[in-house]
Formats: sequence, structure tokens, C-alpha cells
Amino acid sequence: MLMNDMATAKPTNKTTDKNFWDKLPRPIMAMAPMANVTDAAFRRMFVECGKPSVFWTEFVSVEGLLSKGRDRLLSDLWFSPGEHPIVTQIFGGKPEQFEAVAPLIKELGFDGVDINMGCPDRGVEKSGGGAALIKDPVRAKEIIRALKRGVGTLPVSVKTRLGYSKTTEFEAWITALLEEQPAALTVHLRTRAEMSDVPAHWELAPQIAALRDKISPKTVLLGNGDVR
Ligand SMILES: Cc1cc2nc3c(=O)[nH]c(=O)nc-3n(C[C@H](O)[C@H](O)[C@H](O)COP(=O)(O)O)c2cc1C
Repeated sequence: MLMNDMATAKPTNKTTDKNFWDKLPRPIMAMAPMANVTDAAFRRMFVECGKPSVFWTEFVSVEGLLSKGRDRLLSDLWFSPGEHPIVTQIFGGKPEQFEAVAPLIKELGFDGVDINMGCPDRGVEKSGGGAALIKDPVRAKEIIRALKRGVGTLPVSVKTRLGYSKTTEFEAWITALLEEQPAALTVHLRTRAEMSDVPAHWELAPQIAALRDKISPKTVLLGNGDVR
């Protein structure tokens, strides 16, 4: 459950005001977000021992954060000062909700916000979020734009898969995402249909890196799947 730098990007001394991604030493090694596993207590162990380049929270429902039950979800967003840089991961299917939740994300002091566009869970997909967005790139793009509008200079990133059913979908799907110039893009190198049942398609990483170089050279690209 690790993710690493699959890009060919070289470290740069050029930094923008708020984008911590630009400043991360290479190679980037991250702990992949895992719901019900990578909570604040779990992450705290890695602050002491083997701290990754960047932490993700477990994913949290945008709809839930905007509902009356919000307080029950806030514990999923706890983090300690030693965990910086830390990105919170959110999921949902409605662009306007991503804009509406942005002030809360900013107020909580995260270094970035990541949109889950790869989770195969039926409930998550039913909400229109997670891997369901792979089938609706127009809405996926609207979601990125809406969140960017809401959070201003806070870096917005995306974690997704190669495609829904076929690996050949990656070209159109990754292109669509890169057109929105996310600060970072993590690609779990399997399709939704493949779940975690096959070896990750690292052979496609060079083609994805080439798309990044062409469409959005500043996007930090992370590969995920079978990193040991
Ligand atoms: C128990 C579990 C929970 C997960 N929860 C999330 C999550 O909340 N957000 C997410 O983007 N990915 C989630 N994932 C997917 C992982 O982040 C990662 O993409 C996947 O495990 C592939 O990496 P691997 O081949 O090293 O296992 C989860 C995976 C597992 C096993």
C-alpha cells in the first residue's frame, strides 16, 4: 500500500507560495490512504518511524461533511502537527458540494486536498463518487474545478485508476484529468474491474508520464500498486 514517484520530473528549487508538492524532496514515497486503517493513531507511528514524504487521511464523504452528522466524521480528519505535509482525501459526486466543503478543509489546516476517483465500493459509487467518476469525465472535471474555486491556493490533487473496465481507457481518462492541472495525480495502475486482483500495470507508467509532460508538466505524478 505504498505509492511512489513514477514521474521523470527532476527536483526543482522553484516553489510557489502554497504548493508543498513542488518542494517535496525526490523520490516521493507516500503511504496510500486506507479507510479504517490509516487513521491518526496509525499515522502517528510513522511520524516516529519511517515517515513518508506526505500523508493522506482516510477518505471522507463530502456529503457527510455537509450534513447534520458532520461532527461524527470529524475524527477522521484529526491529525497531529508532526504529520505535515498532510492531505485530506474526500469523495462525492456533486461538484457544488465540493465547493461548499472547501472552507472547512481550509479551516482545518491541511496542506492539500485530494479527490478520490478510484474507490470501487458500491456505496461510494452510488453517491456518484469514487470510481464512478471514471465513467463521467465531464463531471469529474467539474468537481476538480469546483473544489479549486473553493480552496483557492490550496493544492488540489486526484487519486484514480487506469480506467473502469479496460486498461486502454487510461489515455482518454488521464488526459481529461490532466487538462484540469491538478497539483498531483496518483494513478493506481489497475482498472476498477481489476480491483486489486492482478499485478499493477507499471508497464504503462512511461506513457502516463508522457501525457503529464505534454498536458500538465507541473503536475506531480505518483504511481500506486504493488510498491514494495
Ligand atoms: C483496506 C483498504 C482501504 C483503502 N482505502 C482507500 C481510501 O480510503 N482511499 C483511496 O484512495 N484508496 C484506498 N485504498 C486503495 C489503496 O490506497 C491503494 O490504492 C491500493 O491498495 C493499491 O495499492 P497496493 O497494490 O499496494 O495494495 C484502500 C485499500 C485498502 C486495502
